[in-house]
Amino acid sequence: MTSWWKEIVFYEIYIPSYFDSNNDGIGDLKGIGQKLDYLKELGVEGIWLTPFYSSPKVDNGYDIADYYQVDADYGDMADFEQLIEAAHDRGIKVIVDMVLNHTSNQHEWFRESKKSRDNKKRDWYIWEPSTNNDGPPNNWESFFGGSAWEYDSMTGEYYYNAFAKEQVDLNWSNENVKEAVFDVLRFWLDKGVDGFRLDVINFLTLNRKFTDNPTNNVGEQDHLYDKDQEGIFDVINEVVAITKEYGDKFVLGEVGSDEFNLLEKYMNETDLDAVFNFNIGSMETLNDKKLFREIKKMDSKLSEINLPTLFFGSHDMPRHYSRFSNLGNEEKIARLTSTFLLTAKGIPFLYFGEEIGMQDFIAKNIEEIKDVQGSTAYHIAKESGYNDKEALKRANKQNRDKSRTPMQWKNEKYFGFSKNEPWINCGDTSNDSIADLQIRDDRSLWHHYQYLIQLRKNELTLQVGNYQMLNSENSIISYERKFEQSSFMIILNFADDDAEYNTRDLVEKEIEHVYSSQRFEMEEGSVLNSFRLLPYEAIVIKMNKGAH
Ligand code: GLC
Ligand code: CA
Repeated sequence: MTSWWKEIVFYEIYIPSYFDSNNDGIGDLKGIGQKLDYLKELGVEGIWLTPFYSSPKVDNGYDIADYYQVDADYGDMADFEQLIEAAHDRGIKVIVDMVLNHTSNQHEWFRESKKSRDNKKRDWYIWEPSTNNDGPPNNWESFFGGSAWEYDSMTGEYYYNAFAKEQVDLNWSNENVKEAVFDVLRFWLDKGVDGFRLDVINFLTLNRKFTDNPTNNVGEQDHLYDKDQEGIFDVINEVVAITKEYGDKFVLGEVGSDEFNLLEKYMNETDLDAVFNFNIGSMETLNDKKLFREIKKMDSKLSEINLPTLFFGSHDMPRHYSRFSNLGNEEKIARLTSTFLLTAKGIPFLYFGEEIGMQDFIAKNIEEIKDVQGSTAYHIAKESGYNDKEALKRANKQNRDKSRTPMQWKNEKYFGFSKNEPWINCGDTSNDSIADLQIRDDRSLWHHYQYLIQLRKNELTLQVGNYQMLNSENSIISYERKFEQSSFMIILNFADDDAEYNTRDLVEKEIEHVYSSQRFEMEEGSVLNSFRLLPYEAIVIKMNKGAH
């Protein structure tokens, strides 16, 4: 049986930056509700909502203070219920982000835990005494930089935080913690969510001997003992089992790694439906050789039931429009990479704004940096003696605000995102990555996305078809997807030169339709002989049913 999530295109909505319905400068749930028709028109059938729970927002909601409340900035419970209903009315599924590894230091559980060493909730978090005369219990570093241990003078112990010090790691070896968190899952499942995106899910268990992490050959800490520890698969499976009590729900894990070998273990050895395949997703440059290697690996190493996810963007990484850019060719590359995302084997996840080619925002001073990872990098650089310019440079490298600027809806002030100044900088306003304009232009990037999303939606072969052929030659990656009698051939040129495509794979095939990412009127007959692809051109060929 195939599951609904294997058939649809997902779209990540970074809530504070999507659409502001009440003009307080912050995107909200009602705002998303007002854009559901836009999403439906684009063709996406699943949305992933980033955290909207009550939070002091040190890490924009990934620091939850109350799992049972909607944050007032984003609306209230009635808004959430209405959004789910309105999405479902339009055939759009909703999966929500769940942050189970840590809570905000403002969470009532932590306020209790902090009170005394013998508090009932002391053991809900990870408290350790100092070991080596005064210093933290070990050398573990936070993923945002600096020690992962924060000293609490009231009780004279350190608590563990894998991210910001305001994001306190829960103790998953405590059964009471598990029960409390499982209740949270049930609560949101009862509200009708269609699944969960599990934040940093491979972090839940730790090496409880607290062995020091080694340093790798570039002088950085190798996080050997603070993630992917013993028992992690069992805990994940418990989370999945609770969710599946509610039927055909989608459980997607964020396993923080770009190593396929590790991702593969979580895919094949846990009950997760999918993980984020950072092995492709976080590729820093456009590298067709690497891309091909990874697709090949995924195709051969994953069991039939495990589809990889396909994405190049998220709220944690620079926008791929900027990341893969080659001066002047950005849009061609965006068309090429999205053709891959939407025709390859896997579950596509688009990040809001990529359909109009939104670009990175680079902060000009520390005041412009809202992201905790960016500002932490800045302060660490300053403390290490770097000047302002250098510290800013380092901060911008880490700054995730790059991809968090408001959605560019209209060609007006603040891009029509809000009538008032947004919580975050709007970025470069002199571009034409604007939804309104692109919807009116048949040849825009938006229409390219829409075409391919709709194609995927209408063609089972593009949803579930296996690779009949998967090839990389010179600068071209090509593959054929096949399902029953139907097949599609996809040919992608990663060079900024023309490239000759050897048509041997097309010989004796009957072609029904040809789509080019760049040529608007394709002559259908033209591909029959050997043909040349334009720089960064992507071609999608539909074969006639019944032809061999
Ligand atoms: C995940 C989120 C990221 C957050 C981190 C800590 O990686 O995607 O935005 O900062 O977890 O919760
Ligand atoms: Ca608002």
